[in-house]
Amino acid sequence: MRPMLVLGIETSCDETAAAVVADASDIRSSIVATQFDVHARYGGIVPELACRRHTENILPVVRAALSEGGATLEEIDLIAVTRGPGLIGALLVGLSCAKALAYASATPCVGVNHLEGHLVTPILEGADYHYPLVALVVSGGHTELYRVDRPGRIELLGQTLDDAAGEAFDKVAKLLGLSFPGGPIIDRLSEEGDPEAVAFPRALMDRDTLDFSFSGVKTAVKYFVDDHSIAPAPFGSQGPPREEDLTAEVSQALKDVAASFQAAVVDVLVAKTLAALHQVGTRELVVAGGVACNRELRARLEAAAAAESLTLHIPSPALCTDNAAMIAAAGALRVSREGWPPDGFLEMDAVANLPLATALEVMEGAG
Ligand code: KG4
Ligand code: ZN
Repeated sequence: MRPMLVLGIETSCDETAAAVVADASDIRSSIVATQFDVHARYGGIVPELACRRHTENILPVVRAALSEGGATLEEIDLIAVTRGPGLIGALLVGLSCAKALAYASATPCVGVNHLEGHLVTPILEGADYHYPLVALVVSGGHTELYRVDRPGRIELLGQTLDDAAGEAFDKVAKLLGLSFPGGPIIDRLSEEGDPEAVAFPRALMDRDTLDFSFSGVKTAVKYFVDDHSIAPAPFGSQGPPREEDLTAEVSQALKDVAASFQAAVVDVLVAKTLAALHQVGTRELVVAGGVACNRELRARLEAAAAAESLTLHIPSPALCTDNAAMIAAAGALRVSREGWPPDGFLEMDAVANLPLATALEVMEGAG
């Protein structure tokens, strides 16, 4: 049988992405246009600038995904698009594009929850889930632990009460004088720093909760840097240093702060995830989202998986951060459960705070 070809479109945050995926398992193309150059000087995402860049990028990115994927729009069986959560203006760019393409080519179109995309990424790489499982979604906008009994049944176990883990990486990087996004740079600097140099707080660690809090550790880093007069990283070729600009000029004290901060965040993520696994009584773990690229987090989870006989599903780093292949896969899996063809796409709205549980309950109700 001919594989089902899905065109995925993702514009929820600062990446304009499109991909062609066959049968939720074979990535024919995955194009991601980042906007780091637009936001770097602000140390965070500026929504209005993100929307403008999405508008410029969306059609070239979709064209590139189709041509690299060796498919024409007429050969696409399904268009899957992120409808939330995310920046409302950014979501609307992708959603409007998907609706227009679907309408013009009479192709079925399905809306996908961005987090659903992150959660199914290991399936896209061949993983086979056994339920119940615990899922940790850890990115620039999210830090959440879920219990998944089956694809249609999901429960939020805990979430951040303030900053997401990736947001804390980005904010700490900014106050250390590093570029945006901060996670990869702190990850890299930490390799040369002492994670035990500074005992930064591990919030809610001893409490009987699966919630997180990362704003305290960020503030603690700020006070530490101020109190010890630790100079920010020297400018690189184009402003705050990016990964490729990092040189020996970054002080050892700064590397130690970076490593100690990273250790504090990773300690909490690992401890709460293990607590969630014990609470649910499962050994099956899915970890996804941009922060899942972090080498220390991956190493600690792999060690825990070996020690406790866990099955750890974690995407390869290139698929941890936002991309449209995961949206295409989530769309394909969704229609395989909900039935074919999906309907009502023209009425579909973008929803800035679309909850994952609701998205999957809808799926359950229909399936
Ligand atoms: O999933 P993602 O691309 O976008 C959101 O949905 O938020 O995640 C981006 C986040 C950023 O905050 C970035 O700093 C963080 O993931 N990140 C990392 C690493 N790579 C990306 N954080 C820590 N270590 C990394 N290696
Ligand atoms: Zn994401």
